[in-house]
Amino acid sequence: MQLKNTSLLKSKSYINGQWIAAEDNKTFSVKNPFNNSHLANVSDVSQAQISYAIACAENAMKTWKAKSATERSIILKKWHQLQIENIDDLAMILTSEQGKPLTEAKGEINYGAAYVEWFAEEAKRAYGDIIPGHQQDKRILVLKQPVGVVGTITPWNFPNAMIARKIAPALAAGCTVVIKPSEITPLSALALAELAHQAGIPRGVLNVVTSNNAEMVGDEFTTNSIIKKISFTGSTKVGKILMKKSAKNLTKLSLELGGNAPFIVFEDADLDDAVSGAIAAKFRNTGQTCICANRIFVHETIHDAFVKRFTTEVQKLKTGNGLLPETQIGPLINVKAVKKVTTIVNDALQKGAKLITGGKSGNDGKNFFDTTVITNINASMKLMKEEIFGPVAPIIKFNTDDEVLKMANTTEYGLASYFYGNNLKRVWKVAEALEYGMVGINTGMISTPVAPFGGIKESGIGREGSKYGMDDYMILKYICFGDIQ
Ligand code: SIN
Repeated sequence: MQLKNTSLLKSKSYINGQWIAAEDNKTFSVKNPFNNSHLANVSDVSQAQISYAIACAENAMKTWKAKSATERSIILKKWHQLQIENIDDLAMILTSEQGKPLTEAKGEINYGAAYVEWFAEEAKRAYGDIIPGHQQDKRILVLKQPVGVVGTITPWNFPNAMIARKIAPALAAGCTVVIKPSEITPLSALALAELAHQAGIPRGVLNVVTSNNAEMVGDEFTTNSIIKKISFTGSTKVGKILMKKSAKNLTKLSLELGGNAPFIVFEDADLDDAVSGAIAAKFRNTGQTCICANRIFVHETIHDAFVKRFTTEVQKLKTGNGLLPETQIGPLINVKAVKKVTTIVNDALQKGAKLITGGKSGNDGKNFFDTTVITNINASMKLMKEEIFGPVAPIIKFNTDDEVLKMANTTEYGLASYFYGNNLKRVWKVAEALEYGMVGINTGMISTPVAPFGGIKESGIGREGSKYGMDDYMILKYICFGDIQ
């Protein structure tokens, strides 16, 4: 990997301001999903080392939370600035370990850095409240204080931004953190840690523990009583396990889990806009985001026209090596992911779906799956219920608003949803009726640090970003002054 700033390529854990190998020098291999070539051997630290990182974070919190909000803000801004200065290298690392095209990787670095900038500002606005007392001699106020040491567990699909949007509000609030990045993409996390070091984030405040054993780290986070909060992005299945295990210490949880986003195109939609919105919402990160359109519902009067135009655009998408400038669609993360997408597509085809384009793993390399469009979908198919997490677009015909709303809401998930239409009354009605934490109207791109990202139902707990984002890392303390005569 050719980097301008070679200090960003790290392979050891970052604990208490130092780069630390595993006790027994154990490592795990990180691969490039484009061709499965080896990128790095990364330290596979032990449970005792993770426990040490947590103890260091507890120790560091004494001075970090005592700093003024402005002091924390200045350090976070420096970290933000270094991320922007090193964007080319950070994107190169990200594409190499994750596969997404370089332009998308740069978009992710900007997205992650924007959370750091946003919360550097929000640090100064963690206002409490003064409440009129309930008796003449009483004065009541509410303070917001950092929740304590935070453990984060982050996924491979956004190896930079998912860390940034948990760590920035936690640090802004005065918490310290122990980050467990995905074992598939730890290099982006380690590069962020190096920049945190250069920005002057004090030792112990931000720690990155690299491990190939996610279950062991989850056990340590949920049983170590120093950890007061866990923030996890990943599958609903693992989120539920963490929730069960967190019962021991009643550890607070933020969970950003799976989705099954509906994307609805009403008959009065602008068709070209709807097609480009659907491309954006479906194929970002090769379909590997929790907010990707999973089910595209199109009104029967425009169904055939939509399928035709959408398919033409899908067939133009260039698949390949993310490091090449012309690439728009990268590989899936690994062979397991390819198998899962293949199973979902084959299940639909066996149950009567019609293949319009794509449909199989591609010829470009082991981890590729063709960009795929399928129609004639019915409710029995896996893709109506499961998160596809791949470049496969199922298109479903509908007739009435009630019918499509019922289908859209028939899922245990409730993360993102999208619809295109211009009838004002319907726009309100549908936005209110969709049982989702986020609704995009006439847009397929809703992610931004200024808005609250998160789900309802089995898609999670808590919100990331926006003026609400620091609440997940703070506790409310009510203070009652008596005898004020
Ligand atoms: C995710 O897939 O979990 C995050 C997507 C986003 O932030 O846009």
